[in-house]
Amino acid sequence: MSEQKNDNQASRRDFLKSAAVGATTLAAGLSTMSNVHAAGTDVIKVGLIGCGGRGTGAADNVLHSAQNVQIVAIGDVFKFKLGGTRNHLQKLAQKDEIKQLNNSVDLPEERCFSGLDAYEKVINSPANYIILATPPGFRPLHLQAAVAAGKNVFTEKPVCVDGPGGRKCLAAYEEANKKKLGIAAGTQRRHQSSYLEAMKRIHEGEIGDIAAMRAYWNGTGIWFHNRDELKGKVDQVTDLAYQLYNWYHFVWLCGDHICEQHVHNLDVCNWAMMAKLGDESHPIRAVGTGSRTTGHSTRPSGDPKDVGHIFDCFAVDFEYKGGVHMFSMCRQTPGTEPNISEFIVGTKGSSNPDGWINGKRVGGGGRDPYVQEHTDLIASIRSGKPINELKNVTEASLTAVMGRMAGYTGKAVTWDKVINSKQDTFPEKLSWDMSLPVPPVAVPGKTPLL
Ligand SMILES: NC(=O)c1ccc[n+]([C@@H]2O[C@H](COP(=O)([O-])OP(=O)(O)OC[C@H]3O[C@@H](n4cnc5c(N)ncnc54)[C@H](O)[C@@H]3O)[C@@H](O)[C@H]2O)c1
Repeated sequence: MSEQKNDNQASRRDFLKSAAVGATTLAAGLSTMSNVHAAGTDVIKVGLIGCGGRGTGAADNVLHSAQNVQIVAIGDVFKFKLGGTRNHLQKLAQKDEIKQLNNSVDLPEERCFSGLDAYEKVINSPANYIILATPPGFRPLHLQAAVAAGKNVFTEKPVCVDGPGGRKCLAAYEEANKKKLGIAAGTQRRHQSSYLEAMKRIHEGEIGDIAAMRAYWNGTGIWFHNRDELKGKVDQVTDLAYQLYNWYHFVWLCGDHICEQHVHNLDVCNWAMMAKLGDESHPIRAVGTGSRTTGHSTRPSGDPKDVGHIFDCFAVDFEYKGGVHMFSMCRQTPGTEPNISEFIVGTKGSSNPDGWINGKRVGGGGRDPYVQEHTDLIASIRSGKPINELKNVTEASLTAVMGRMAGYTGKAVTWDKVINSKQDTFPEKLSWDMSLPVPPVAVPGKTPLL
């Protein structure tokens, strides 16, 4: 939730052009608001997988983003999560702002799915536009299933938490291109006018050649759920039920906070490098450090099976082809200085890419990027030229995985090592009563690089 607040606070102006999605953005603004019939009248039928805070928010956002949008199915592993989302959307559908767009919510009981196979039921429903908003450990599986079924996708970030997951996402990217499916990602800065304008100028050379970058996700408290909160909500509080409920604290589900949160800022730096490195705008090497805090004030201490095993801070030096370095820092520590931002230094100047070039404001305002990302995706699908952001967001997620591996092991980690890694963190077969041991907290210098 705090993440959404930060991102919303950041958007300020109405510039609607960029190398990456500018044409789509303009088309979206026109076609979805006044001229939708020119671009096609097919109803976007939305199926939502993951009925938590972001999933409910994304379903709300898509209903504000374009005309002729209908929510037709929702799913969550937990039955008790469905009611809140369904009620929110049904109430929203009664509002004039939604009716004026000819949008609606059609969620009979039989299209509200729960269980470990809820994702398949949503994908096999009449939905033609799937929103993926579960914990990211499931994303490769869900992306592959949605693309195999020929569905367009809006996927939340990150999209993978390890190398094998990243390879599945890149395969889904290729398959989606072949099938002409649209995929947009929840790295919403790429749809935010302040970033679009600054990035356009950076790509045009306004600050010269990029010499160095830095990216921060320095946050404060973190959420934590204990086992007892689940009692009465599920039949049995098994290992799997507990880990799914408290997913942020387990690497196979969340990828650690460098992946889950900091991916946004790492993505911005990769995006900045695109003008110079084109299709290979990801780092090639990372060296870093990191640690877990004992006595964290918003998470109890204890056995990893009860409290998880993620780190609370990372500091990583990423190197790109050609020798440009990006310094990355992320932490989740109450009482510390918060800072979520990026900074780019070039041979002729510098930029905070959230709308600033050489200390001067050049972009901001505009529409809520959480709405705009759906507007852009839907316009691209209706125009027959679907955007596909899966490669960018996969590379940003793998950049974060590379940083985590560097922090956990203390070793230098190359892109090739990450992309070819055999360290698959996803359990072989999920069942509610399975035993799901939790690995120990990593120890740099001792934890092996796999
Ligand atoms: N783009 C952004 O700014 C932004 C903001 C917030 C969250 N997010 C992303 O959205 C995702 C979800 O975050 P959240 O804050 O909504 O978490 P959340 O815990 O509120 O919601 C996740 C939901 O997914 C459900 N779920 C878990 N496994 C599932 C499965 N296999 N099938 C179906 N449902 C499953 C959970 O029960 C829960 O209801 C994360 O990847 C997060 O990074 C992005």
